[in-house]
Amino acid sequence: MSQPNMNILKVAMPKGRIYKQASKLFREAGLPIPSDFDDTRKLVIELPEMDMEFIMAKPVDVPTYVEYGVADIGIVGKDVLMEENKDVFELLDLGIAKCRMSVIGLPDWTPSINPRVATKYPNVASQYFREQGQQVEVIKLNGSIELAPLIGLADRIVDMVETGQTLRENGLVEMETIFGITSRLIANRVSYRMKNAKIQSLCDLLQAAITVKQG
Ligand code: PRP
Repeated sequence: MSQPNMNILKVAMPKGRIYKQASKLFREAGLPIPSDFDDTRKLVIELPEMDMEFIMAKPVDVPTYVEYGVADIGIVGKDVLMEENKDVFELLDLGIAKCRMSVIGLPDWTPSINPRVATKYPNVASQYFREQGQQVEVIKLNGSIELAPLIGLADRIVDMVETGQTLRENGLVEMETIFGITSRLIANRVSYRMKNAKIQSLCDLLQAAITVKQG
């Protein structure tokens, strides 16, 4: 394996809904990510003028890249962090991509004898219902979770709610909020020691931009 370049900071960026807000925050922090990155299909993008390399990752994989050190730092939603439970440092709450993790069901939901809960977040859901003292069967799905109560696969779901539009359009209601979600900056434990000055100065720039935003 080649020696890591200590001058380059490798950043795992989540593609999709967080990317737009994360790249905007980087720009507000004075880190000029070129705008043509927003639509690129390229997966590894070097920015030598910023001594950075961006790894365009599937959001759920960001903590894995950071835990293994192939990315020094990464941006990831608190939902993924809670579900994946990887050995990484959580450095900063970026305050972007705000949403919440909730228990959702049909408005006429009543407790059943063999309750089933469908979710993309089986660890989060299992822990939540265990703490509530409720025995449920957790069924892992990979998307369109709201289908499950509509077609009778599960009586409730655990999923992320952002605008609430998906719930409204499918006649579902939020029953309980489990936790609030924002995106976080995370770091590999070794990178955090070895590239501390670089990571710390990035944190300071981002924190200043967050403070301005939050007024
Ligand atoms: C997420 C989530 C909800 C929806 C919530 O799905 O699982 O379905 O967004 O957003 P809203 O409250 O603004 O409607 P995503 O778009 O990631 O797609 P998925 O169904 O493939 O998980």
